[in-house]
Amino acid sequence: MHRDKIAILDFGSQYTQLIARRCRELQVYSEILPPSTKGAELAKGGFKGIILSGGPDSVYAKGAPKCDPKVFEAGLPVLGICYGMQLMGHVLGGEVKGAASREFGHAELRLVAEAKLLRGMSSPTKVWMSHGDALRKAPPGFTVTGATSTTALAAMEDPKRRLFGIQFHPEVKHTPEGGKLLANFLDACACGRDWNPASFVEEAVERVRQTVGAKGRVICALSGGVDSAVTALIVHRAVGDRLTSVFVDNGVLRKNEAEQVRRRFAERLRLKVLFVDASKRFLTKLTGVRDPERKRKVIGKEFIEVFKASMRKVGKADFLAQGTLYPDVIESTSVRGPSAVIKSHHNVGGLPKSLKFKLVEPLRELFKDEVRAAGLELGLDEEFVYRQPFPGPGLAVRCLGPIDRARLDILREADAVVAEEIRAAGLYRKLWQSFAVLLPVRSVGVMGDDRTYQYTIAIRAVESADGMTADWARLPHELLARISSRIVNDVRGVNRVVYDVSSKPPSTIEWE
Ligand code: XMP
Repeated sequence: MHRDKIAILDFGSQYTQLIARRCRELQVYSEILPPSTKGAELAKGGFKGIILSGGPDSVYAKGAPKCDPKVFEAGLPVLGICYGMQLMGHVLGGEVKGAASREFGHAELRLVAEAKLLRGMSSPTKVWMSHGDALRKAPPGFTVTGATSTTALAAMEDPKRRLFGIQFHPEVKHTPEGGKLLANFLDACACGRDWNPASFVEEAVERVRQTVGAKGRVICALSGGVDSAVTALIVHRAVGDRLTSVFVDNGVLRKNEAEQVRRRFAERLRLKVLFVDASKRFLTKLTGVRDPERKRKVIGKEFIEVFKASMRKVGKADFLAQGTLYPDVIESTSVRGPSAVIKSHHNVGGLPKSLKFKLVEPLRELFKDEVRAAGLELGLDEEFVYRQPFPGPGLAVRCLGPIDRARLDILREADAVVAEEIRAAGLYRKLWQSFAVLLPVRSVGVMGDDRTYQYTIAIRAVESADGMTADWARLPHELLARISSRIVNDVRGVNRVVYDVSSKPPSTIEWE
């Protein structure tokens, strides 16, 4: 398959994947390559341009990653970002000045000369800086085109050789006109714009085919979420029924969830799915467990056992397909060191290395919204693709206090009412999550002539961009009233409904 593409040489910036993502947003495919990739290789490899990423080093540091000087002679446009610009300056005869301190944060860039790269941008324009060293003198042939109050040489270009350097980061949201700049660079590369969800799917399918080979067999754990679904559909397109998906009913799913998965994946999308109803087994282990972390551990451990047992039914598989996304990759390879465990967010479906599978992870480079676009492309319905996140440990961490089947049933019914009403109000997609939580206390109420002593349901609805921080949703009172009266009237065992008005932080989204 021939397609115009950009090479991104990775000098270790935390933003390298973001550069690739911005290129995809501009419908251009890119490949992230090691910093040492040879210029000749790039020239032969069908690339239309080269981006040198940022990185944490100083060009003067021992062991700092260098690039092949021939990269600048490959006849391809090159854009150096931050460290990439300093390296370009250093290699081509400019002068890099070691900085005593770092500059980090917003800056205003003024355009100081006619510039191909900065065409159409305002002056001044907001840019994001994150650097120590800076270029003091541009290399011969370059014009300085942009400056900030602290960095006189913030942008430069040599239009003849089509070489461009910028000290700031165009790929981050804090540089609002960064997209324009990258588009200008891609124009300078004369790069065709033909990258879209359909071409992603096509290429991912081809890659899986190559990885798995003509005979390989693949197994995939369907969780009921979007990531594993898109993964399974890609693998299925690549290898057909040499993929078996396993769906485990762990007893803490939402109302009708297992049935919906069956209809959607086995019947409509024709995946070969092994349904394992392990709800009894999970509930036996979970009954009486009250500690939230313990609940997660029990579910994780049981899942592995059940999955292993189901593998014996499926037969030998060489590959395990997993819906790992790019943010999961960064989280698990974070150079910032392990952050404090607030909740052990294990992915149910996270399987131990000892299972000795080779991994197939077709979504490894993608962000959530890109996965959704790929899902639509693969024939998943919108309702499913835009569903709210649901934690792996499911209703177990929303059924506060010791787990038992009766209380889980109450919660499941109440949760279904919340979901139905939120959808009917047209708010489902606007909310990050909306759900019911069953509290472990009972309180007094009155129904008809009788005194009741029953459970309380808390409604949780939050708005959030990524789940890291969240604000409680200002739901209309009429909607809350409707949810409350339906729950109290229709769900046996509940006589009180409260609304959670706490944000994250200091609260978390889930109650456990
Ligand atoms: P918290 O409660 O930490 O949740 O504010 C942030 C997001 O993570 C989800 N969550 C989990 N997801 N396993 C998961 O797969 C877990 O154990 C888990 N705990 C929380 C939560 O639903 C929210 O979207």
